[in-house]
Amino acid sequence: MNIAIGCDHAALEAKREIVEYLKSLEHVMLDEGTHSLKSCDYPDFAAAVSRKVQAGSAERGILICGTGIGMSIAANRFKGVRAALCYTEELAELSRLHNDANVLCLGARTQSVDSMKSIVLRWLTTEWEGERHGSRLNKIESNSRGQDAE
Ligand code: RB5
Repeated sequence: MNIAIGCDHAALEAKREIVEYLKSLEHVMLDEGTHSLKSCDYPDFAAAVSRKVQAGSAERGILICGTGIGMSIAANRFKGVRAALCYTEELAELSRLHNDANVLCLGARTQSVDSMKSIVLRWLTTEWEGERHGSRLNKIESNSRGQDAE
């Protein structure tokens, strides 16, 4: 699977480990930065990954900052992006089953890398259930279009 990944300075090492882990599982990783420990702004990387998901050049996105909160807020501003901040495998699974989350947000200061790896694996291997959830996702999309028109 093509996966875009981004982080800020708080999550550089965690991102490197997740990239290596997912490459070892034969995923194609599009690393959108940051690439240094210099303090930076997480919305820039949330935007880069979200645009790849919007364009379809990445099937999924992963965003890691200190808590994952800033990344999730920033990514969810992009139409078509359904970003979920998941601290457990169960939440990761539910974000796929019910919400068809296409971006996973993680917190490098609040989760261990081992826990992130198992969360990412569950998230990547769970399919959306569809059916009753479809109309709910359509409402999310039409709500954001409505706001743009006002
Ligand atoms: C950076 O210090 C920190 O604010 C950021 O990584 C993130 O946790 C924001 O939500």
